[in-house]
Amino acid sequence: MFEHIERVPGDAILGLIEAFKKDTNPQKVDLGVGVYRDTQGNTPVMRAVKEAEARLLKNETTKTYIGSHGAPSYGEVVLPMVFGAESPVLKANRASATQSPGGTGALRLAADFISTQLPGKGIWVSDPTWPNHHGIFTAAGIELHKYPYVDPDNRLDFDGMRAALKSIPEGDVVVLHACCHNPTGFDLSHAQWQEVLEIVRERKLLPLIDFAYQGFGEGLDEDAYGVRLLAENLDEAIITSSCSKNFGIYCERTGCLIMVAKDSEQMDNIRSQVAIVARENYSNPPAHGGAIVSEILHDPELTALWREELTEMRDRINTLRRDFVEALKPYGLDEKYACVAEQRGMFSYTGLTPEQVDRLRDEFGIYMVRSGRANVAGFSHENLPYLAKAIAAVND
Ligand code: LMR
Repeated sequence: MFEHIERVPGDAILGLIEAFKKDTNPQKVDLGVGVYRDTQGNTPVMRAVKEAEARLLKNETTKTYIGSHGAPSYGEVVLPMVFGAESPVLKANRASATQSPGGTGALRLAADFISTQLPGKGIWVSDPTWPNHHGIFTAAGIELHKYPYVDPDNRLDFDGMRAALKSIPEGDVVVLHACCHNPTGFDLSHAQWQEVLEIVRERKLLPLIDFAYQGFGEGLDEDAYGVRLLAENLDEAIITSSCSKNFGIYCERTGCLIMVAKDSEQMDNIRSQVAIVARENYSNPPAHGGAIVSEILHDPELTALWREELTEMRDRINTLRRDFVEALKPYGLDEKYACVAEQRGMFSYTGLTPEQVDRLRDEFGIYMVRSGRANVAGFSHENLPYLAKAIAAVND
């Protein structure tokens, strides 16, 4: 039965974790998978999370199922985080939250919802996008197309994006990154979001907004600009949100599928379908991550502590972006890599070629995705001089 099954290469991003572990170079640097790292290169548990977990452990009375939509107390705090507490979308009961196993789980729910409820609709992703978008939507049987996002000089290609969006067939789904575009780090300006809104409305497209990095770009509210603009001005939208990253609870897989509908009645119809999709995938989501988020966001003191810690992470990343470019100055490469200081979030599309990335790995023990995507959180003031030297060497 299994004789014909061939071995395939592992996931390009997750494979870097193993490859990095095996490398014995004492100066090795991990710029691979998108997890935050502190000055020591660790991914610590946030203080607010530790405190919330202590309380949960003490007060927990049951481990019974939490239902296909997850814990209502989780949805209650995620929706205002995403839309803003005073959002007209929430006031009109037009949004519904379904707790999911990570942002990835939310994407899979969205994909299955689209393939079952909107059969025949194509889906459009940016070129490039997070590679798993391709896998998830294709696995759900949806026809995948690309729209341009970056030009050959490694800049945001909004002209190309605009032109492509205008030619998408009516009713198709367009995947947008709310902030901290993965893998490029190039985000849309407010004026560009406005244009996207107009095209989406005119072409009657369905936006699916991937919101995995809220708080890592400019701030919790600032990063939600595009999501809020579209949700408030369109009848329908899908948002896949994640708390795995901004609460640093990666392994707890804490995401949320948010469906925005025209009115509360349509909302209830959609919600009933999403429950079936969740049931058929994994029945009920894991509870712990959502419980942590809910514990923190229902408590003003823990919320303040969490916001402070998130701000520290964001500021550190943005400082390192500028210092990286500064470190390249002595090599005359600061202009070439100036985009790194302008991009936002954990990732930078550096412009390094796959061959240069291979050399960085083989000669210097520096690991990043072959597309040239670097996890900027892997920079540190200790490794910046080494990184700059290595990048200069592969530019020779
Ligand atoms: C990444 O892009 O590195 C993260 O989103 C982790 C992942 O699952 O790929």
